[in-house]
Amino acid sequence: LLDPIVNDAFIREFIEAAPDALLVVDSGGRIVLVNTQLEHLFGYARHELAGKAIEILVPERFRSNHEGYRMDFVGSPRTRAMGAGRSLWGRKKDGVEFPVEISLSPVPAGSEHFVAAAVRDVTEARRSAATLRAAERLVALATLAAGIAHEINNPLTTVMASLDLALESVSSWRAIGASAPPAELVEALTDAKQAAKTVGEIVQSMRVLARGETGRLQPVDVNKLLDQSLILIANSVKYSARIVKEFGDLAPVMADPPQLAQVFLNVLVNAAQAFSEASAVRNEIRIATRMDGARVLIEIGDNGRGIPEAIRERIFEPFFTTKDVGQGMGLGLSITRSIVKALGGEITFESAAHRGTVFRIALPSTSFSTEAEWPATRPPIAATAPRASAAQPDEDVSPRKGARKRIRVLVIDDDIGVARTLARGLAKECDVDILTDGREAIDRLSTEHGYDLVLCDLMMPSVTGADVYREVMTKRPESADRFVFITGGAFTDAGRRFLETVDAPVVRKPFDLRAVRALVRSRARR
Ligand SMILES: Nc1ncnc2c1ncn2[C@@H]1O[C@H](COP(=O)(O)OP(=O)(O)OP(=O)(O)O)[C@@H](O)[C@H]1O
Ligand SMILES: [Mg+2]
Repeated sequence: LLDPIVNDAFIREFIEAAPDALLVVDSGGRIVLVNTQLEHLFGYARHELAGKAIEILVPERFRSNHEGYRMDFVGSPRTRAMGAGRSLWGRKKDGVEFPVEISLSPVPAGSEHFVAAAVRDVTEARRSAATLRAAERLVALATLAAGIAHEINNPLTTVMASLDLALESVSSWRAIGASAPPAELVEALTDAKQAAKTVGEIVQSMRVLARGETGRLQPVDVNKLLDQSLILIANSVKYSARIVKEFGDLAPVMADPPQLAQVFLNVLVNAAQAFSEASAVRNEIRIATRMDGARVLIEIGDNGRGIPEAIRERIFEPFFTTKDVGQGMGLGLSITRSIVKALGGEITFESAAHRGTVFRIALPSTSFSTEAEWPATRPPIAATAPRASAAQPDEDVSPRKGARKRIRVLVIDDDIGVARTLARGLAKECDVDILTDGREAIDRLSTEHGYDLVLCDLMMPSVTGADVYREVMTKRPESADRFVFITGGAFTDAGRRFLETVDAPVVRKPFDLRAVRALVRSRARR
């Protein structure tokens, strides 16, 4: 009876040639035929399977059900995929279980009803589907993060600038004859400002994460930037690890320096945190740079604990961390990767348990030289508060006594909180008018020509900052250099393109009031 199937050399060859693992069982569920692929897949030799119940290939926990399913199939045989809607598992000789897809075909031969099955190992397919789901989840998460970051930004701008103002105000009490402010008031305000700054940094990180937003790109000397980044961590690393530098000659890369510094810092801090015990003798952080074709290669390695195999796939996920609460948020590497990608680069790593980890960052090099101002025509962007911090000393308010005329400023921002804070912050040296609507701003600017400066929010409902600018330009092109744009950074493509075409400074929220004042002065003086 079996002869037509088993003994026909042609059919045997045919079965062997199939890419899938194939087997045939009789109506009693006993194995009568397998091909080599099936032997390999399940780890059994042919003779070990011949005549055995098919359940030998099924994990124990599914065996009793399997017999029932098999009866059903014999009752109404037709070619179909097995176990629609269920995930199926195979069991190898050594007990390892793996996901499979199985298609069944009835093979009637005389009075016997054989069933042929093709078995496919879908471990890889399942894994990539899971990766895809994870990627989709990340996109959703990033979109959410960007939305939240955007919503937080305006109130945060108000909080930060108001705290600046409050601090300035209490520190001038003495000057106006009042007694010194109580120390705890100054402390409380300073702490609040520091905390608000941290929120600002998180918001900024979210943005980079979600949109791969880059700042202003310019040619950067990577070795120099690495040195500057190292200074920032030097103190905290001094006793816990030795730092070894092997810098090669490099071409510059196009990057936003503070952002690229953040990339280096994130990886350096991780390296510094990779040691279980502090020991400047045993522990080493090695930083090497060299050219790799047209790319600049930066390696940051440590001989710390290494990254366990099980989490290697996840370390770039936002909020994935193995560190204690307060130690790490799990954002470092995800932000790092977004920035590196946005610069057209790549970040990879190698790790071995207890031997250490090397992160490798490759960035495209540029032929622009770091000496050149690039692009030469753009005025500098006023830095965001977290970056600028105490860097700019406040200019003397009245260099020549009584000589300065007051500057007239129009602030246009749909967020009244932001607009008022700006007005308050500039009140000492400027007369400020506020408008919260782009349409009104256009009307005002077409009748009122006395403003020295227009501080205009870019993203406003219906009439945007770009609309205001374009409309005013048609009537009074000479006022082009009076415009300064304010932005929450969440550029639309149109917004981005607009900023590339206009030659106007951009202030990012949350801003540092002192930086805005300095900008207002320098623009008004022109
Ligand atoms: N050099 C390293 N050695 C060992 N583990 C590392 C190293 N770099 C990263 N990791 C692992 O990857 C995880 C994610 O790193 P990531 O920088 O994204 O977040 P974090 O350091 O935990 O927190 P954050 O950077 O937000 O402070 C870490 O928690 C750690 O488990
Ligand atoms: Mg980190």
